[in-house]
Amino acid sequence: MTRYLSPTDAERPRVRPDSEVDLSVFDGQRERAGAIVARYPEPRSALLPLLHLVQYVEGHVSRAGVAFCADVLDITPAEVSAVATFYTMYKREPVGEHLVSVCTNTLCAALGGDDIYAAVRERLGGIGHEQTAGEPGTPGSLTIEHAECLAACDLAPVLTVNYEFFDRQTVDSALEIIGKLQAGEKPHPTRGAPLTDFRRIELLLAGFFDDPEVGGAAANAGPSADEATLAGARLAEERGWTAPPMPDGGPDRPTEAPDLPGGAS
Ligand code: FES
Repeated sequence: MTRYLSPTDAERPRVRPDSEVDLSVFDGQRERAGAIVARYPEPRSALLPLLHLVQYVEGHVSRAGVAFCADVLDITPAEVSAVATFYTMYKREPVGEHLVSVCTNTLCAALGGDDIYAAVRERLGGIGHEQTAGEPGTPGSLTIEHAECLAACDLAPVLTVNYEFFDRQTVDSALEIIGKLQAGEKPHPTRGAPLTDFRRIELLLAGFFDDPEVGGAAANAGPSADEATLAGARLAEERGWTAPPMPDGGPDRPTEAPDLPGGAS
């Protein structure tokens, strides 16, 4: 019987970025790329934040962006593409000034998320998933997507703009947000930091929290939890409820509960 073995790194054919790809757009990013790589014991572990750096520069993962990552990490473009095409946060087409994600998963859909997504699409001329109204990157241009659960079901229906939350939305409130974004305004999210734009958030996601380009750490602080989310923790605290022990003792756990915003613990 023939057995097929995975090639080792040394045996794997190395397909280098071809010379047709112009990487000059990333010339100013070599220092940041080096700082990302330095965070990890193995360079290839830096791929995810490096792809966010690519999106900061170009608003999507372009062919040049793939080649840049491959060059920095000494891996093949195919290995970069395999990762970049797996995760939905990496976009194959240029994104607008803002990325609007409408949750259409079960709970949000049942509470109006589907209606919100349909209304937003209609307001933007009938564009569809991961399509953009306006010239990508120009002021007021918006890319929309329907998203899987955004982990805010207790505040459904929700949408995010550049991953900042707008909770308990209605069709009217969502369209008001869209109108303001198109007009160049930055409506304040229900939670989280003030809005900037998609590309600056990509620099944050690349891990540059203090970078002047994103306004520094203080500009990106904000409450991350809503009272509804904390209510259960507060109730458990008041009543002295704790989770039952694991049958086999379980892994080591902290003896102190972490601090929660607003004083709950
Ligand atoms: S279903 Fe929308 S946040 Fe969970």
